[in-house]
Amino acid sequence: MTVIVTGGAGFIGGNFIYYMLKNHPEDRVVCVDCLTYAGNLSTLKEAMEHSNFRFCKINICDREAVYGLFEEEHPDVVINFAAESHVDRSIENPEVFLQTNILGTAVMMDACRKYGIRRYHQVSTDEVYGDLPLDRPDLFFTEETPIHTSSPYSSSKAGADLLVLAYHRTYGLPVTISRCSNNYGPYHFPEKLIPLMIANALADKPLPVYGEGLNVRDWLYVEDHCRAIDLIVRKGRVGEVYNVGGHNEMRNIDIVKLICKEFGKPESLITHVTDRKGHDMRYAINPTKIYNELGWLPETKFADGIKKTIRWYLENREWWENIINGEYQNYYERMYGNR
Ligand code: NAD
Ligand code: DAU
Repeated sequence: MTVIVTGGAGFIGGNFIYYMLKNHPEDRVVCVDCLTYAGNLSTLKEAMEHSNFRFCKINICDREAVYGLFEEEHPDVVINFAAESHVDRSIENPEVFLQTNILGTAVMMDACRKYGIRRYHQVSTDEVYGDLPLDRPDLFFTEETPIHTSSPYSSSKAGADLLVLAYHRTYGLPVTISRCSNNYGPYHFPEKLIPLMIANALADKPLPVYGEGLNVRDWLYVEDHCRAIDLIVRKGRVGEVYNVGGHNEMRNIDIVKLICKEFGKPESLITHVTDRKGHDMRYAINPTKIYNELGWLPETKFADGIKKTIRWYLENREWWENIINGEYQNYYERMYGNR
């Protein structure tokens, strides 16, 4: 079958493309990505050598270009990873989040309706559920938890989710949605917590922890997320939402201390900076549904995943050094300069 993967030059989409080429070499994979600051063609260097892979530089908001591609490729499946994904940037400038995350999703689904499709899958996030209090460790996000967003980013993702479910009910579009917790692993853009701390620790630069660093995230190795999406697309029930996460809750401060330890760097590098506005306290996924229906469980333990991730960043310095030496420096100065 032919699978369109949008946002494939980004972190999770890129990992998903390699997952597909390895596990389903018979399928044709067409990557649609407009290469924003977060898209990196060097991520797809090895994929470009596969005869079953095609890269198309297209913005998912560009209806004409998207329809043109559907006419050429007749895709069986569309998996929509493309998004503006960084909460801090959404607080600085929400508009592009609404455009790509909501309107772009609508364009992709309109193309699916017009040309016909076996499955449209929306890659969503646990952030649509808002946050959980730190003093209620018994609470977890289930698929029934009400949508209750905090940031422009999560609101745009929630808007897209509602639209996806509406296209299913109104037009009968065969959709599924996955809502995953925080991913980590190779090709993670260095504006996000784990790669940012790795890059700064290696350069003996301050490690900027927002507030006290007591916020909790539920970390999942990216390959486990890719496997979950693949299972949902092939075996998940149409019209359903599946939460994806692996009961691996950690406080930010503990992650940063662990990275210091791995590199033998002093904890005195840790600098507490002004907190993120509207900062979500705790995310925690209950993955019972995907386990019961599809048998999915995470395979990579955090202790192994973080070691693999650190090794990847050490062995692929060129990939991230090219990023942090470019335009990204202006962002870093803007975001952390006076914090
Ligand atoms: P990312 O920022 O690393 O990559 C996003 C990719 O989308 C980039 O390659 C970018 O160029 C592309 N893109 C952005 N706007 C586009 C547009 N208008 N048209 C075409 N391409 C466009 O993001 P990520 O961390 O890989 O996240 C991928 C998806 O997974 C997002 O939908 C995000 O909401 C979701 N998600 C992420 C996490 C996480 O921990 N990173 C967890 C759960 C869900
Ligand atoms: O939960 C899934 C979400 O995880 C995805 O939907 C988002 O696309 C993804 O970016 C991620 O969102 P977070 O806001 O949780 O990730 P981030 O890496 O930006 O931050 C993780 C935590 O670390 C958060 O509590 C903020 C904190 N932080 C982050 C940065 C960049 C710091 O303390 N210092 C930092 O410099």
